[in-house]
Amino acid sequence: MFLVANWKMNMTRDRIGRYLAVLEGKGLSSILSGTGHEVVFAATHVYLEYLSEEVNRRGLPAKIFAQDVSSRIEGAFTGEVSVRNILDVGAVGSILGHSERRRYFRETDEDVATKTGLCLQAGVIPLVCFGESGEDREAGNTLKVLREQVAPVAEVAAKALKDGIDIPVYLAYEPVWAIGSGKNASCADIREVMSAVLEEFPWTAPPKILYGGSVNLDNVASLAALKNLSGLLVGSAWLDPEIFLNSLMALS
Ligand code: PGA
Repeated sequence: MFLVANWKMNMTRDRIGRYLAVLEGKGLSSILSGTGHEVVFAATHVYLEYLSEEVNRRGLPAKIFAQDVSSRIEGAFTGEVSVRNILDVGAVGSILGHSERRRYFRETDEDVATKTGLCLQAGVIPLVCFGESGEDREAGNTLKVLREQVAPVAEVAAKALKDGIDIPVYLAYEPVWAIGSGKNASCADIREVMSAVLEEFPWTAPPKILYGGSVNLDNVASLAALKNLSGLLVGSAWLDPEIFLNSLMALS
């Protein structure tokens, strides 16, 4: 499983240091050993370098992801952070199109596809979030909305593969109504979305699909047991290193 902790804008340098000290002290390496699980921490841009240095210094088996990248490659874009910038400071991937970015920062499906293309060209793993709102679901529009979100990403992924870029595309199904709400999607909902996404698009290399939205210690094992699910993207629960470790133990 690809197990991603999305720290959002909740961490400080000090808190990251304490978090990693707990993982080192409790033996993250031995907990993960032989499980095949991969652990990812997604931090804000300013802490990527510190996080990657600390993870290396403490010998922790974890990958570092950004939470977003610019849709521009370089140039006069004040305040933006490019895909090259994140690579330079130790990130190997980035979350893209999180619903909070789509909702509060007006990111469109096309922006997300552009960012996916830039990541693939730069050798950065894209983890693209998609998901319907509560209103979409109530109106019976779930699959329609998800198709609109995923289609441009599938196109970019196919083009990259044609250009010889062989980097996995990860997709995270995160229903907006499930994020931070305490209500997770049911296994049946997730199964339906996974088969729609895998079957309806002309993937040359099928994407790996993660689930995110109110994953916690109580539901982590049953969600992870879903056939064909490749991982989990977790916000609030994994801000606590003890809950993070207990979740890993529930999975191994
Ligand atoms: P949550 O957040 O686990 O707090 O629901 C998930 C996410 O937003 O990625």
